[in-house]
Amino acid sequence: MIKNLINAPELPKINMVRGWVRTHRQSKSVSFFDLNDGTSIKGLQVVIAPETKGYQEVAAKITTGASVIVLGEMKDSPAKGQRYEFHASEVRLIGESDAENYPLQKKGHTLEFLREHLHLRPRSNTFGAIARIRSRAAFAVHQYFQDRDFYYLTSPIISTSDCEGAGAMFRVTTFDLDKVPLTSDKKVDYSKDFFGEEASLTVSGQLEGEAYATAISKIYTFGPTFRAENSNTTRHLAEFWMIEPEMAFYELKDNQELAQDFVLYLIKDVLKNCDEELRFLQEREWTSNDHIEVLQKVSESKFETVDYTEAIKILEKSKTSFEFPVSWGIDLQSEHERFLTDEHFKGPVTVINYPKEIKAFYMRLNEDEKTVRAMDVLVPRLGEIIGGSQREERFDVLLQKMKAQDLDPNKYSWYLDLRRFGTVPHSGFGLGFERFLMYVTGMQNIRDVIPFPRYPGSAK
Ligand code: 4AD
Ligand code: MG
Repeated sequence: MIKNLINAPELPKINMVRGWVRTHRQSKSVSFFDLNDGTSIKGLQVVIAPETKGYQEVAAKITTGASVIVLGEMKDSPAKGQRYEFHASEVRLIGESDAENYPLQKKGHTLEFLREHLHLRPRSNTFGAIARIRSRAAFAVHQYFQDRDFYYLTSPIISTSDCEGAGAMFRVTTFDLDKVPLTSDKKVDYSKDFFGEEASLTVSGQLEGEAYATAISKIYTFGPTFRAENSNTTRHLAEFWMIEPEMAFYELKDNQELAQDFVLYLIKDVLKNCDEELRFLQEREWTSNDHIEVLQKVSESKFETVDYTEAIKILEKSKTSFEFPVSWGIDLQSEHERFLTDEHFKGPVTVINYPKEIKAFYMRLNEDEKTVRAMDVLVPRLGEIIGGSQREERFDVLLQKMKAQDLDPNKYSWYLDLRRFGTVPHSGFGLGFERFLMYVTGMQNIRDVIPFPRYPGSAK
């Protein structure tokens, strides 16, 4: 891989390199091309004499985007700018690239332009860097939990329960949509559908996670989740990846500590292993010019914690005029979240104990009977990256809460069973993987941190 060749501590002994041409500079005495295989920002400089075997025949076709195999050897580079270069003894053109129509030219493109070419944008330095950071961060997620006695749970993608109760689910069916079977009272007859009942793509693996945490103690899921909310924002996707740890015997405080430790671990891991990528994104000015410095500071800090009730007071006292008026009981809007993180606390903050009305049925009711043991981790620029809670482990209270939110207890009887048989306090949270990647890469649009973004109007 070119990354290893250009960074090798000693002159690498290899006789072949391959990849895609970025630029080709021809001259009478000697030609150069910049060869890249997507493993690093910097490419390998290939040096070719005019008489090199195979070169004259294909020289005109060695254009940006063409793929080549080059035989030869590595040498120390006499020029500044690279330590080694590759001296060609034979050049083989593998795939021509229609230079005139190749969308990626040498000049930098806008992110909007690149979003129109989802299949080619990974060949740009920006999306190559993001792809590598994403891969590293996913590895770090597994490493973090595996090192701490969590078991990886693959929760189902097709689900018959709506965990967040938001009703924003994509239906899964094999019905012929022109001939949907109806019951005698003209409702869709799901008993005739593939699963014999209404099924959807999951919005969260949490409920199934609870079944396993209350059996094998500590689990985490890491998989795709789906939400059919019609949110055309820079922070929402219809398909995104979520990491959901769930822990038996954890209370809210333990949950908060784990969330903070986990996020800081991930930030440190990416800072350590993706330095070249982060620097490139910062130099390319996709991020603020102190992005890396800020991340380093955060990675050594502690998150502030604030009660929802206190947060409302802070917002009410602020001189900012918000578009959405503030009063106890509202759901925090992104302008409120950003005031808390960017203006007031100037860093990540965990908001806890939200009003029960604005949170999901499974959260544990506090003694005040007005709030639940919820926690949202908010970060500057972006707002919520984690949502979690201590779960309601008391059978009667949970049943009451389900009824209050119009959920059919019969449909959730398996979930109630977890409280019937050996119930324990337990907690968990969900980290939106793309939200985290936005935070760590500094990218401003969630559509740029997932390879093929799905959002209203687009599933290209
Ligand atoms: O706050 P949410 O809805 O929480 C849950 O789904 C819980 N079941 C998690 C748990 O306790 N196990 O979502 C969790 C996180 C959010 O904080 C956000 O980072 C991300 O998932 N998220 C989205 N990311 C991208 N696009 C969307 N439409 C998202 N909705 C939520
Ligand atoms: Mg949430």
